[in-house]
Amino acid sequence: MLTVSFLIMPQTTAMSEMIQENPKTAIQPRGEGRVQSPEIRSDRFGEPGVRGPVKVVTRDLDLFYGAKQALRKIALDITERQVTAFIGPSGCGKSTYLRTLNRMNDLIPGVKITGQVHIDGVDIYQKNLDVVELRKRVGMVFQKSNPFPKTIWENVAYGRRIMGERNKATLNEVVEKSLKQAALWEEVKDRLHHGALGLSGGQQQRLCIARALAVEPEVLLMDEPASALDPISTAKIEELIFELKSSYTIIIVTHNMQQAARVSDVTAFFYMGELIEVGDTRAIFTNPVKKQTEDYITGRFG
Ligand SMILES: Nc1ncnc2c1ncn2[C@@H]1O[C@H](COP(=O)(O)OP(=O)(O)O)[C@@H](O)[C@H]1O
Ligand SMILES: [Mg+2]
Repeated sequence: MLTVSFLIMPQTTAMSEMIQENPKTAIQPRGEGRVQSPEIRSDRFGEPGVRGPVKVVTRDLDLFYGAKQALRKIALDITERQVTAFIGPSGCGKSTYLRTLNRMNDLIPGVKITGQVHIDGVDIYQKNLDVVELRKRVGMVFQKSNPFPKTIWENVAYGRRIMGERNKATLNEVVEKSLKQAALWEEVKDRLHHGALGLSGGQQQRLCIARALAVEPEVLLMDEPASALDPISTAKIEELIFELKSSYTIIIVTHNMQQAARVSDVTAFFYMGELIEVGDTRAIFTNPVKKQTEDYITGRFG
């Protein structure tokens, strides 16, 4: 229903430039020959894993890397202002699916995506979508922290400067607020103009979270954000996730089931490119419906 209006919209310059830059990236056109997926709406309370208003709706999502299919018919509703964890053995498509939510896979040559992903009712694979704007709304933090070789201040201010903010006082406020949100301010406030690469691993990861928060995203994608960190830094990131969920919709990939159990409200179990089961975290870990989920959480494979 919500997709119809986008079918006839012309392609914008930004998107056509992107396609020209990367001609192998084929986002399937809407319309002819496509099977319309089940009704998409955002009032699916009571369905598995849906605990409030739905922010991200996925239907019928297939993804191929060349000839290799990495996602199969993914259908999932992600609740706003909750933490949703993706678990499953290595190579089952968790990162791939996460990247479809801010179209990071567009950057990989030979990727073909079909199906639908809607955020706040907007089809993010519509042809005229402003991908830069999308990535502002849907921020991402990676497994390996990747600060720019610049100062702490410049790292956090970066996104806002790119967006055109020139006012130094405003940027200072953004930097302070974001570092506070990322629970890093107290540790770095006296060395904002020192290089970010001098920070510890755990601090660098919180800096990357601050950098993502500085552009005020609504959804935060985190791909194994603590897997390279020591237990103390991991605990800090987990506390941070807990605090951030009152303002953000958080989706975290983790191969650590204890972590999923600690931080998430909803858990989705992936296996070989399929979403096997999704539900309230407690239910998934104590009383899974599917045998594959049970085998995985009890350590029988993966
Ligand atoms: N850029 C890529 N090119 C080709 N194949 C890929 C690429 N990224 C991931 N894959 C493949 O897709 C499958 C899913 O990978 P991934 O999403 O990284 O899984 P997970 O995050 O669950 O470990 C794997 O078989 C992986 O080898
Ligand atoms: Mg991964």
